[in-house]
Order: sequence, then C-alpha cells, then structure tokens
Amino acid sequence: MDLYEYQARDVFEKYGVPVLAGIVADTPEEVKAAAEKIGGVVVVKAQVKTGGRGKAGGVKVAKTPDEAYEAAKAILGLDIKGHIVKRVMVAQGAAIAEEFYFSVLLDRANRSYLSLCSVEGGMEIEILAVEKPEALARVDVNPLTGIDKDKAVEIARAANFPEELIEKVSDVFVKLYEVYKGEDATLVEVNPLVLTEAGDIVALDGKVTLDENASEIRHPEHAALEDKDAADPLEAKAKASGLNYVKLDGQVGIIGNGAGLVMSTLDVVAYAGENHNGVKPANFLDIGGGASAAVMAAGLDVILGDPQVKSVFVNVFGGITACDAVANGIKGALETLGDTASKPLVVRLDGNRVDEGRAILAEYAHPLVTLAATMDEGADKAAELANA
Ligand SMILES: Nc1ncnc2c1ncn2[C@@H]1O[C@H](COP(=O)(O)OP(=O)(O)O)[C@@H](O)[C@H]1O
Ligand SMILES: [Mg+2]
Repeated sequence: MDLYEYQARDVFEKYGVPVLAGIVADTPEEVKAAAEKIGGVVVVKAQVKTGGRGKAGGVKVAKTPDEAYEAAKAILGLDIKGHIVKRVMVAQGAAIAEEFYFSVLLDRANRSYLSLCSVEGGMEIEILAVEKPEALARVDVNPLTGIDKDKAVEIARAANFPEELIEKVSDVFVKLYEVYKGEDATLVEVNPLVLTEAGDIVALDGKVTLDENASEIRHPEHAALEDKDAADPLEAKAKASGLNYVKLDGQVGIIGNGAGLVMSTLDVVAYAGENHNGVKPANFLDIGGGASAAVMAAGLDVILGDPQVKSVFVNVFGGITACDAVANGIKGALETLGDTASKPLVVRLDGNRVDEGRAILAEYAHPLVTLAATMDEGADKAAELANA
C-alpha cells in the first residue's frame, strides 16, 4: 500500500524525521484557513499517489492566504497522470539551499535491502539513474544490521555529501531507516531531502510503501491509512470476505485453489483466448485450502459482480480439500446465488476424490455448468463461452 505524501509526513514526524508543518484540505476555503494558521509562505501540494506533481502544476508556492486560495482552485480537480486531485496539503514553505535524494527499499532481486542516495535531488530518480548514474550511490543494506550510524555515514560518503553535512544527514538516514523497519515498509523515499538556508536538513516530500502482508497482524493501525474511496469496489468486497482477489481487465472469471495453480490458469486462459477473439482472464482469485460452499459462494459472488465477466472457469485440484467437497461447494454456491448466477461456469476438478466430485456435478446437471476433463479443455471452453 502506497501512502499519500501527507500520511508519509505524519509517519516521519512520529519517528523524529525533520518535517515542516502540513495541513490537509479539500476546498480552497480550507486551504486559505490552513495558510493563515501556518503563516508566512506556504506551498500548496496536490495529494495524489504519483510522482512528478511539481512538473504537472500540482505544487504551487503561495505568499499569502489569498494566493493559497487561488493555488488551491488551480490544483483541485487537476488530472495528474490519470489521478484527479481531490485533496491538497498546505505545507510550510522552506527556503531551500540544496535538494538531495535518499531512499531505502526492498531489493527483491538481491533478496536484500538497498539504499539509493544522491546529492542531486529534486529531479525524478528514474531520470537521474539513466542520465547521470554516477551521481546515484547504491549501497547494500544488510537487513540484519540495517542502517545504523556507521552505515548512514557510509551512504552519505558514497553519495559525495560534503564533509560538513555528513553528521547531520546521516542522523536523518538513521531515522528514515527506523521508519522503514518500524512500519514494515518496502520503500521509504525522500525527494527532495533539503538543506535549508538556515542549515537544517528537512524531508520535503515523502513516499512510503507499506508491506500489506505485515499490516493485519503487526500493524492494525495501518487499516486507517487505507484509501477506501480509491479501492476497487470488487477488491474491497473480496477483501471483506477474506479472499485473495485481484481484478484484471479480461472477460473470463477465474477461481482456483492455490496461488500457483491460479497463476497458471491465468496463463492457460490467456493462451486459449487467442483462438477466441483475444478474450483474457478477468481476475485472479485464490480460494485457498478450504473451498467450502460459503467460500465458493463468496468467490462466485465477487466474480459475477464484475460486469465485464462473460464466463467463469473454476479450476480446482483436490488435495487436503477433496473434490467432492468442492463440488458440493459449487452446488451450494449456485443454490445460494439463485438467479444472480447467470453466466456459464466451466468446472475442471482433479486430484483427491475426483470421481465423486464429478459425479455430484453430473447428477446436479445445472444448465450453467459444463464439466471439463482437463485444464486445457476447460480453459478453451471458458474462452469460447466468453466470446459467444
Ligand atoms: N514545503 C516546500 N517548500 C518549498 N519548496 C517545496 C516544498 N515542497 C516542495 N517544494 C518544491 O517543489 C518541488 C516538487 O515537490 P515534491 O514534493 O517533490 O513533488 P513531486 O516529487 O511530486 O514533484 C520540490 O523539489 C521542491 O523544490
Ligand atoms: Mg518529490
């Protein structure tokens, strides 16, 4: 889960990372009041989960509350890379002497952490990495020891910070790592980290990505950071039922058990779709181990709620959960859903108690259900029905 800048600012503050005052506002009137409260020069900043807001006109300096009001009028409603601005943050203005870049992130390829740092901050890091790679220090961070003071100094030196700033910036790096570790983040990025004319180091922009796998148990407080309005309604519904669901944009709804099987089902359906007008999988949905009628019904309910879905492919390999239980689950789900189940269902069962499972569905003989003997056959049939 990515945080908005204002949320990142609040988290930074909690960990003692130096930040400036910031107040969120949803209307020009609120912005004006916030500017009055903060006093002096403020910066009105679009709160959207994408970078390059400055270049897109989403960051404006205002010398008076009236200017802030006008800036808010210009920014609210702006489309920044497909994100409509609904909220801004009124930030205290900084007198910037220099802009730097710092980040710490999960480096999946190396199964480790990595810190990126540069004395040339402000510009987009992707551009800096391509145009001036020598200006971007990459320092491996051992997850067991993290960024302690020594590591922070090493990072600052690798990025060519002037000697007189090393002490100050390294203190901030240590605190930013505490945010990364303490919040179970996979990214903490500050661009720009600035040196003010008064000689202070301040984080002026923050991007934080939290590891959602850690949220439920380790950070119940993260639920409050979730942007419920922006979440896909089907994904929200699936989440509420405890299902692992990801919406995609094809036409064949997919239900399977086990992430690996569901992933390969997506591939097989996409491949089969090439023969049927290019239809594609509509979602990823893993119902996990216990494919009870209730879970199956919840899964089908979510998938059938997607207006783009034209057919559904249920691909289950019976292991601990036997195929007859799954078949009864499908039967129960269709009974629960009644008339709301209106789209064809292709079912492929294999594994533990497959004969019993198939017999249950054959006997049930629901007009919407087609049994398939193999995964390829089922994928082809589901793609064909989606294209019918
Ligand atoms: N509080 C602030 N005071 C002064 N200048 C700011 C402030 N916040 C941002 N800026 C300036 O605006 C630029 C872009 O803002 P930033 O928050 O980094 O947005 P983005 O990265 O999305 O463009 C910064 O590089 C900085 O020069
Ligand atoms: Mg920035």
